[in-house]
Order: sequence, then structure tokens, then C-alpha cells
Amino acid sequence: MGNGSITNNLSENDYTDWLEETIDSINDGILVIDVHGVVQFVNTEYTNITGVHPDTIVGKPLKDVRKGAVLPKALRDGKRREGIYRREGQTEYVIDTAPVYKNEEIIGAVSVCKSLNEVHYLTKELKKSKEQLLRLENTVGHMYRTRYTFDDIVGKDNGLKTPVETAKKAAYSELNILIQGESGTGKELFAQAIHSEGPRSKFPFIPINCAAIPAELLESELFGYEEGSFTSSKKGGKVGLFELSNYGTLFLDEIGDLPIELQAKLLRVLQEGRIRKVGGLEEEEVDVQVITATNKDLGKLVEKQRFREDLYYRLNGVAINISPLRDRKEDIQLFIDILMEDAGSPEIPHVNLTKEASQTLTQYDWPGNTRELFNAIHYALSMREGNCIEPCHLPELVRKHGSITEFDNPQSLKEIVKYTEQKIIKQSIKKYGDSLEGKKKTAKKLGISLATLYNKIGE
Ligand SMILES: Nc1ncnc2c1ncn2[C@@H]1O[C@H](COP(=O)(O)OP(=O)(O)OP(=O)(O)O)[C@@H](O)[C@H]1O
Ligand SMILES: [Mg+2]
Repeated sequence: MGNGSITNNLSENDYTDWLEETIDSINDGILVIDVHGVVQFVNTEYTNITGVHPDTIVGKPLKDVRKGAVLPKALRDGKRREGIYRREGQTEYVIDTAPVYKNEEIIGAVSVCKSLNEVHYLTKELKKSKEQLLRLENTVGHMYRTRYTFDDIVGKDNGLKTPVETAKKAAYSELNILIQGESGTGKELFAQAIHSEGPRSKFPFIPINCAAIPAELLESELFGYEEGSFTSSKKGGKVGLFELSNYGTLFLDEIGDLPIELQAKLLRVLQEGRIRKVGGLEEEEVDVQVITATNKDLGKLVEKQRFREDLYYRLNGVAINISPLRDRKEDIQLFIDILMEDAGSPEIPHVNLTKEASQTLTQYDWPGNTRELFNAIHYALSMREGNCIEPCHLPELVRKHGSITEFDNPQSLKEIVKYTEQKIIKQSIKKYGDSLEGKKKTAKKLGISLATLYNKIGE
């Protein structure tokens, strides 16, 4: 104020009135004393806050009418003070005090007070909002917390050594990760382990199955929409999964089923790191690591022009290939051992497999991979009598195909021959490939015509 200057054409009286009105309209309480400590002025807000009426204090020494007032100290020591707590009945407030100088001499002092009720109210509101935010964070975090880490992966020192090592490095990179493997090989398990391992683990892991959501909804699921962007849109719009997984991981499962028109949009987002909501004009930055998985051969889909080549390369920053369980026979035994150990109870501490049952399990092809193996063992554990699992306790499918000597009655030669034939054809097709070329080679190798081969596959 000391350096403030006002030019006006008002008379001294008018000017004083004008100044009083101005001070009166300030939203903080103001009290002014002169050099003798006598109250000269209080504004309306001061009365509102403290409940002290001007008539009871103006013209009187402040120290007499307001016991313990600190403002007179400013006259003596010329110091400014801030944040002094005061209470008047139910009202709490804080005051700042300052001396008023003219020509380097103290001519009075001013105190400015703010009600704490409003501060309290705002603090309470803030606390409420914070609690709500925490609850939301917990819910979201709970919903999207990963369950698995690399410690949960069985076979990481065996058949899965390479994919696990690659996945661990990928967890610390900013690259997109493509996980390929047959159904039930543990693709989602890997995706979760990668998220839990890396620096994104404190943020959400959001899985979405691209095959399970209708194409027309998928775009707004991924990117969200603005309010009013279509007739059934929700008030306030919708937050997309990209935004929800910000700083975390977005797991796009069954990426091979992503509709071609969305493939272009996904590519743009990955290239630019920005999303635009459906019906929105502005773009928003997102920082998300994208992990995709598929049990289809994505390379082949690219060849058939059902998957964009540019997107394929973008997603395939790091490729993790999980081989099928039948190619990891030693892992089958590991799983069996672990599941058997887990099955032990105080009454029956050790559950055992007979040699025949163990052979059947290792010989079986496991088209459903680990998931199917888990189910088969759990089935056998429920069917067993005592502490021993025999082939007859295994699911029929496993029993039939895992051993050529295990057939339901009647166990005819015809049945055995048919089964053996199928097994050899399957192995051969696996070796030469499922293409027409591969099938021609298989037929040639087995000394049958292509038509016969097709007949037998169709059988
Ligand atoms: N190596 C492993 N160690 C421990 N558990 C495993 C392993 N591989 C798979 N599993 C378990 O097998 C089940 C199937 O795994 P998951 O769902 O990850 O497979 P998936 O490849 O995503 O299958 P789908 O293609 O059908 O979606 C899960 O219960 C998973 O925990
Ligand atoms: Mg899966």
C-alpha cells in the first residue's frame, strides 16, 4: 500500500467515503488502529467473522476492548505477523497483522482476518473427495490387479526358459509385446507376469478380449466416447480402456480378431501415443504398454490380408512364442508333480499316479494345453479312490488318446487300427504342415491318395 497511489478528482470527504466503501466490500475482515492503538475502522466482514460490532470498539483502545489483541504489538516492533489463530465463540479465524508506515514512521496498524469455517468446510470437502478417490483407486486397482508373477510360471527353467527370459527383459522396455501360443498355453499368465515385473506394476493392468466384444462397441471401449456422440451414449461420456490403463498395461487378447477398420485406428494410437474419443475433437496423450496375444498365426493372417502388416510389425516389438505342452513333455511331469503335491491333505498326504496313468498323461497330445492338463488332473483327483490315480480315473478323452491300450469296451481291433492311423496322420501333418502342400507331402509319405487322406481326416 505504501507505494500505491491514487489520482482522483474527489474531495477529501468523498475520497474517504469511497475508500471506506472499497474496504468494506473486501471479502476479508479488516480492522485499523491509529498510532495510539485506538480503533479507527472495521469493515462489515470483520463483524461477520468475529461478531464484534463497530459501535463497541471504534474509537476505543483495542487492548481494552479486545483482550489479548496482538495488533498493538505491530506499533511497538514494526513487525508483520501471519497466520495467528483466534477464536470467538464458535467462530475460528486467522489474522495477519502489519504496521502502516508514512514517511518511514509508523502511523497505525492493520489486521486482516479470514474465517476458518470456510477453510474447514473446504478441507472437509477435500477430505471427502480424497476418500472417494482412494476408494475408486482401490476398486479400479483391485479390479485390475494382476494375480500372477514369473514365480507362478511352471517350466521356466525347462521348456519355457527362452520365452520367460525374453518376457522379463521386455517388462523393462517400452516395446509392444506380442505373445503367441495355442489355447491354454499361458499367454494371459505371461502378460500378467510381465506387468507385475516391470515399472508399470503400480498402475492398472487392463485385459480386453477383442473377440468377445461386438465390433461396433470395441472402438468406444478402447478409446471412450464424448457425451452425446450417439443416441444411447451415457451422460458425461465414457472413459476408454486406453485412458484407464494410462501408465500401466493394456492387454489385447485375441488380437487376430480385431476388425480391420479398427486396426488402422489402433496403429495410429500406437504410432502417436495419443487417443481421440469417439465423437471427440481433441487428442489426449496416453502412456501405455500394449501386450497382445493370439492363438492364431498372425503372420498367416497378414498373408491373407486379414491383418494389417504395418500393425503386425508395430505390435511385434518383442515376440514371445510359447510352445504347446506336447512339445514340452518334461513340463507335463513338472505340472503333475506340483498338482499332486497340492492335492495332499492331512488324511492322505501323498497322492500317487501309477506308471500307466503317468504314461497316458505324457503320451496324450493336450490340444487344450496346460488348461486341459489342470482340468484332467483335477478330474482324476475327484475320481480317485484312496491315494492312487490309475488310468481309469482319467477323463475318457485323455484315456482313449493317451494310450492305445486303453479303450472302452468293446476294444475292437478296428478301433485300435483307426486310432493308430489317426495318430500317425496327425503327426505327419504336424511335420509337413496344414497347407495343401503339407497334406500332399503327408499323403505321399503314407502312400495314400490325397482324397483318401481327406477322407480319413474327415472321419
Ligand atoms: N507355465 C505355466 N505355469 C503355471 N500355470 C500355467 C502355465 N501355463 C498355463 N497355466 C495355467 O493354465 C491356465 C490357462 O492359462 P492362460 O489363460 O494364461 O492361457 P491362454 O494362452 O491365455 O489361453 P487362451 O488362448 O485359451 O486364452 C491358467 O490357469 C494358467 O494359470
Ligand atoms: Mg487367454
